[in-house]
Amino acid sequence: MKLQDFARKKNTAKITVLTCYDYPSAKLIASSNLDCVLVGDSVAMAVHGHSSTIMADIQMLEMHTAAVARGIGPQFLVADLPFLCHRSGLQDTISNVKRLAQAGAHAIKIEGGDIDTCTTIEYIVIAGVPIVGHIGLTPQSVLQLGGYKIQGRSQAQADKLIAQAQRLEAAGCIALVLECIPKELAKRITQTLSIPTIGIGAGPDTDGQVLVWHDFLGLYSDVNCSFVKQFAQGSSLFDTAIQHYITEVQQGQFPTVEHSF
Ligand code: KIV
Repeated sequence: MKLQDFARKKNTAKITVLTCYDYPSAKLIASSNLDCVLVGDSVAMAVHGHSSTIMADIQMLEMHTAAVARGIGPQFLVADLPFLCHRSGLQDTISNVKRLAQAGAHAIKIEGGDIDTCTTIEYIVIAGVPIVGHIGLTPQSVLQLGGYKIQGRSQAQADKLIAQAQRLEAAGCIALVLECIPKELAKRITQTLSIPTIGIGAGPDTDGQVLVWHDFLGLYSDVNCSFVKQFAQGSSLFDTAIQHYITEVQQGQFPTVEHSF
């Protein structure tokens, strides 16, 4: 998928996105017709075992973006700008964006729809780097939000999110992630904007969907979000394989002659 396809796909086909953090997963996705991968700052939680995305930094995102870029196929590659990386001046922001673009990102995702963030996004877009916005539950603001809660439930909150969405479109975003908001609000934002919306926990009416790789594959048996559908039972698959390996080594069934020189 190319940059121009984001606009083209709105109202014609759903945009399919998965997060991806490493080379082997990128290789698996490369041969599919998935539209886009996101090297999300959720890597801090899903891969590094941190309890929030505020532990992600630019080195972490740069390294994972480069690994994914080495394995990915025709998919569009978006990388997250991590916690506070666009809050310490334009020069710093541009150097962080440059690191991710040089690592292989085709666009950068930035959380937040406040006026300062939109001014920064406008600057980056003018500098020639496509930006994806992200509003609703923005995990980098978890300290301020007081936890991972659904956003936009009250009329005031909903109006604020609609205003943010419009501001982000005006700032030049190519697409907008809507995370954990009521489905009616996601539908309204989607109908209001001319850029596509990508939903996670935002119902069926957005222009596309994104899921976190480990959730999508069911790799963590102890994680259970109501908006996630596990498309495989990865955790039990791996449990079984590990148990078979232990048993076969212990009982002398592996290696056999075929596995020996
Ligand atoms: O970091 C991430 O994985 C994300 C998605 C949940 C949209 O931002």
